[in-house]
Amino acid sequence: MPAQWTDRAFAKVAQIVTRHAGLKIPEYRFREVESAVRKEMSARGLGSIGDYAALLERDDIALSDLVSDLTVGESYFFRAKAQFDLIRDRIVPELLRDRPERHVLRVWSAGCAGGEEPYSLAMMFEEMGLAGRSFILATDISRPALEKARRATYGAWSLRGASLQLARRYVRSVGKRYEVLPRFRKRVRFDYLNLAEDAYPSMANGTFGVDLILCRNVLIYFEAQVVALVARRLFESLAEGGWLLLGASDPPLGQLAPFEVLWTGAGLVSRRPPRHEQAARGQRAPARPSPPPPGAAQAAPPSALQQARQAYARADYRAAMGALRDAVDSPEAAGLFVRAAA
Ligand SMILES: C[S@@+](CC[C@H](N)C(=O)[O-])C[C@H]1O[C@@H](n2cnc3c(N)ncnc32)[C@H](O)[C@@H]1O
Repeated sequence: MPAQWTDRAFAKVAQIVTRHAGLKIPEYRFREVESAVRKEMSARGLGSIGDYAALLERDDIALSDLVSDLTVGESYFFRAKAQFDLIRDRIVPELLRDRPERHVLRVWSAGCAGGEEPYSLAMMFEEMGLAGRSFILATDISRPALEKARRATYGAWSLRGASLQLARRYVRSVGKRYEVLPRFRKRVRFDYLNLAEDAYPSMANGTFGVDLILCRNVLIYFEAQVVALVARRLFESLAEGGWLLLGASDPPLGQLAPFEVLWTGAGLVSRRPPRHEQAARGQRAPARPSPPPPGAAQAAPPSALQQARQAYARADYRAAMGALRDAVDSPEAAGLFVRAAA
């Protein structure tokens, strides 16, 4: 039987959240939303869901607190390593080749969660000798996530798998936790930015003329019409020849904005065509992905979730967590992981 709200006023709250943050709230999240709402209501001493919904309409902080409760902040250092390899081996060399000498690379981690992604970029840029030639902006809608990012101290889970080895030289142990070395903290600017709002592109907040945007594992949580808006705004935020990397489970944007879609060793990636190519394309028709080169390995279908579902069903929680170790990329996977861990 499809899930129902236990009180119709919850539907109003969900609507406000979707309108504000673009988040879709499918039925399987109804209970989670209700318990987040109850938590926020009790923190504010409110007894009526209707009153709480009215509060959300007029109080930005209350709305921001609820949205933060409902976002999935899962991330880890050097997540989807193949994309970092692509940045190092192709994207950055091509950008440096095509930009003027002394150009400072402008990179934006949009939906940066607790900062693991932008710090990984900062670490890799230092390895590439680009510490002084890169500007990294990292934004998120969740203020607690931004606070965590600025603290730059992480548990082992953020450095799981190969992440610790990759980041080892750039963090120091503090008890059971790891602290990102101070110099990297200075190289990333963390700011609040709601991708569902019309706040970008903008020179004022650094989201204009960007060479590389990482917006990974964010759009998967958005309503389709918000994805379409975000696609166009991200396109406009890119400099000509600028690149956009999405997560493996994110919706493709090739039909939503005139991106050039390229097949790479890290899967499909999008690029704002360089000026001369845009002119040649005339109408700027949305791009179709170029076919994979003969013999290229197709990106593996995400079977980890399936394996995890099966392991969970037979109560093998360790196997379920193992299967999801590198694939907590969807609300279902995140929920399954949390249940398996419990
Ligand atoms: C799963 S994390 C992805 C973190 C990182 N990009 C990665 O791939 O590891 C999704 C992030 O998107 C953020 N987010 C969700 N809705 C957003 C919005 N409307 N604007 C900006 N960030 C949003 C969440 O707060 C969360 O930190």
